[in-house]
Amino acid sequence: MSRSAHPAGPRHADVLPEGHYSAPPADLNSLDPKVWSRTVSRDALGVVTVGGIDVKTLAEDHGTPAYVLDEADFRDRARAWRTAFGADADVFYAGKAFLSRAVVRWLHEEGLNLDVCSGGELATALSAGMPADRIAFHGNNKSTEEIERAVRAGVGRIVLDSFQEIVRVAHIAQSLGKRQRVQIRITVGVEAHTHEFIATAHEDQKFGIPLAGGQAAEAVRRALKLDGLELIGIHSHIGSQIFDMSGFEVAAHRVVGLLKEIRDEHGVELPEIDLGGGLGIAYTSDDDPREPHEIAKALTEIVTRECESARLRTPRISVEPGRAIVGPTAFTLYEVGTVKPLDGLRTYVSVDGGMSDNIRTALYDAEYSVALVSRVSDAAPMLSRVVGKHCESGDIVVKDAFLPSDLAPGDLIAVPATGAYCRSMASNYNHVLRPPVVAVHEGEARVIVRRETEEDLLRLDVG
Ligand code: LLP
Repeated sequence: MSRSAHPAGPRHADVLPEGHYSAPPADLNSLDPKVWSRTVSRDALGVVTVGGIDVKTLAEDHGTPAYVLDEADFRDRARAWRTAFGADADVFYAGKAFLSRAVVRWLHEEGLNLDVCSGGELATALSAGMPADRIAFHGNNKSTEEIERAVRAGVGRIVLDSFQEIVRVAHIAQSLGKRQRVQIRITVGVEAHTHEFIATAHEDQKFGIPLAGGQAAEAVRRALKLDGLELIGIHSHIGSQIFDMSGFEVAAHRVVGLLKEIRDEHGVELPEIDLGGGLGIAYTSDDDPREPHEIAKALTEIVTRECESARLRTPRISVEPGRAIVGPTAFTLYEVGTVKPLDGLRTYVSVDGGMSDNIRTALYDAEYSVALVSRVSDAAPMLSRVVGKHCESGDIVVKDAFLPSDLAPGDLIAVPATGAYCRSMASNYNHVLRPPVVAVHEGEARVIVRRETEEDLLRLDVG
């Protein structure tokens, strides 16, 4: 996203440096509903509240840093996806975005299915009571042990990712006296990220079986011959943080083309098509995500149209949103430890977490917003960089954002839209302890993933 330096500056610089920022917001105390979870607001004293609890109480009771997850918002978003796609389609929440047993139970209650991509995610799903037939098992290198566990449990589908896996899953299913429902993940030559997609991207990546060169058709040929497999459909996932639906349009066109080839060659019309996840959310006020009902309408229309022109029955559609459900529902609450103005540059605001609780800024150059949440302030905007406590200069949480220039140690600040790919990608770098996930709902806060302790760290270190 192109951003330009803004002429109006912080107290310590006449000219602002180049950076990833636009103008400071007119009111630093305002909270853009696009990037904050739905029950967030400020109380009469100016303290931010979520789910009916203020952040000072949350910090006192649970410490900082902490991921604060708005349960009502999570349930609303899950339900909105479910309702938008209706009874003729399936929504599989992508557990890689964030998974815990409480989340599994919410998903189950809201009628969603679950996509898991490792034995650990599968174990979490099963232990929280997600019916196995509502689970899809993904991954480009599932172990024999993982496949066995999934087949024994009776997962609804295994998404096959390679020629070896077609044989492996068939063999395991057969040896267990089962016929496993499977989809084949193909790469359609479409790569989409944020606002752009490339329709001619070559399949130079580890996932799926390329459509190009007839490889996907050959995979289907082999899968159809194996007694241990029931091939129910084709799977395609084109990328992450996508706003532009045209990538899905090209992908659907190509997947339906393969379904037609399969019908012509084998006389079989596969009943399902999975278009993956990847739908974008607002990390900053500049992002404009689409609502689930618009996405459902667009995807359904695309698939229906393509099938009509190929004279195929429209297959059952499934989608796998992760970020679009959980991403906007949480923020990370930090306490400010130090404030270091660098003349002519920006102010470094150090918090008590960092790259171990949010690696996305360092890894993807991701953009985030930030706000002072323990009070309001009328002070002038100060160009700030929110950094962590790790021994690494790339330990940046928010690259460039405006905070009030009276910010001081002890203030609480929060980074919104950290529900997806933050706790799930957290690490123990520098032996920093991973923060808890605190779910808030109607005035109650409940720890759904507890804070790691030094005992947890030392338990793994067996000397
Ligand atoms: N389905 C499949 C097959 C996927 O590979 C993914 C994500 C999803 C669904 C869910 O995508 P979502 O709707 O959450 O965008 N760590 C990166 C994102 C990696 C996504 C991997 N696959 C990040 O932090 O942006």
